[in-house]
Amino acid sequence: MDSNNPKIAVIGAGVIGMTVGAMLQQELRNTNITVIAEGFKEDTVSCVAAGIFRPGTSFKGPTKEVTKKWINESWYYWQDILKTPEAPLAGIMPVSSYIFSKENYFITRNHLIEDLVPIYRPVEKDELKLCGEGWKYGSYFSTIKIGCDRYLPWVEKSFIEKGGKIENGRIDSFASLRSKYDLVFNCTGLGAKVLCNDHDLVSVRGQIAKAKAPWLKMAFYGDYDTYIIPGIDGVATLGGVRQYDSYNKEVCKYDAAAILERCYDFIPSLRKAEIVAHRVGLRPHRMPVRVEPEVVDGVKVVHCYGHGGYGVMCAPGTARDAIKMGVDILRSNARSKI
Ligand SMILES: Cc1cc2nc3c(=O)[nH]c(=O)nc-3n(C[C@H](O)[C@H](O)[C@H](O)COP(=O)(O)OP(=O)(O)OC[C@H]3O[C@@H](n4cnc5c(N)ncnc54)[C@H](O)[C@@H]3O)c2cc1C
Ligand SMILES: *[C@@H]1O[C@H](CO)[C@@H](O)[C@H](O)[C@H]1NC(C)=O
Ligand SMILES: *[C@@H]1O[C@H](CO)[C@@H](O)[C@H](O)[C@H]1NC(C)=O
Ligand SMILES: *[C@@H]1O[C@H](CO)[C@@H](O)[C@H](O)[C@H]1NC(C)=O
Repeated sequence: MDSNNPKIAVIGAGVIGMTVGAMLQQELRNTNITVIAEGFKEDTVSCVAAGIFRPGTSFKGPTKEVTKKWINESWYYWQDILKTPEAPLAGIMPVSSYIFSKENYFITRNHLIEDLVPIYRPVEKDELKLCGEGWKYGSYFSTIKIGCDRYLPWVEKSFIEKGGKIENGRIDSFASLRSKYDLVFNCTGLGAKVLCNDHDLVSVRGQIAKAKAPWLKMAFYGDYDTYIIPGIDGVATLGGVRQYDSYNKEVCKYDAAAILERCYDFIPSLRKAEIVAHRVGLRPHRMPVRVEPEVVDGVKVVHCYGHGGYGVMCAPGTARDAIKMGVDILRSNARSKI
């Protein structure tokens, strides 16, 4: 192996793998990087996500400081794209949101982004009557949304234009990669559980409906995982469910009915919207998210998986840490050869 021209593979082409691939190209120019995956674009969990920048308050890295750093760096990474004409092509747009509750004011707050996003404030009394009934508490905030239906094709195109390679295939063991790559990034999402024995990784099943509602310009969150998030092309995401340790990838008609009923009660105009799809995604949940190096079967690996319900928003921050670890490994490889 040539340490001046290391060969690098990224396993996984969801939002994590593709973002790692793209950021690696910026960090290590003149390097061959190959993304290997079983599923691409619409066949990933990433493509089911609404992709809103709003972490659950339980989202967690190894320490509080690292969690904050991931979120902060991700925010500025997306903001940089948002300032360019590429933003709509990459599926990135600003979105304002209400979050209401009948139970508790604190669940409408979010300590992870309150001091990061431009606006995060308690609602006025009148705003509680904007939609739905009986809301007692609420917050209003401004944030962004990254739609992977556009982001993944956009980032893949740019990756290939810069010399990146894409391979379709399933990796069943690391040993098969040993002779070919100096460094491997493991961005397999829930695939990591099936492949290996990471019992800390569990599926949190999600199901959503896609509704043609171009008049909807804001996001709304209510109690019991009810949310309505507008899309760049007029198709809104209606959710949802959060089923712990459930691996059913089929659309469940009872979940679909419950989601629609909750969303229709919340925003009655949605009854007029055409439902164009129902989708299921298994969130790769792990506490904490795993971003760390390991030598597996003689292969130098940096893991980056387990982002749960927040992998789209937090992809750049975690990717940056993973890449830093990878670059350190390559440098020490180079040193050991002198
Ligand atoms: C309903 C729902 C709503 C969501 N909403 C949001 C949201 O608003 N905001 C947000 O930030 N996040 C949201 N998420 C979470 C987000 O979708 C995930 O955190 C994110 O997609 C994880 O990305 P990933 O790249 O790790 O996984 P994936 O997108 O699953 O990608 C994994 C990749 O690895 C490949 N792979 C796996 N195993 C192997 C193998 N053995 N060999 C080869 N390839 C392999 C797969 O084919 C795929 O390409 C939501 C999720 C769901 C289900
Ligand atoms: C990539 O690899 C090929 C051979 O596999 C080599 O010819 C080429 O120079 C490499 N490109 C870069 C940028 O390292
Ligand atoms: C957040 O990230 C930006 C851009 O990377 C950086 O300039 C800033 O110092 C960071 N702020 C905090 C609080 O970490
Ligand atoms: C990903 O990480 C898991 C957990 O350590 C490991 O068992 C698995 O082999 C890795 N998969 C790939 C394709 O790198």
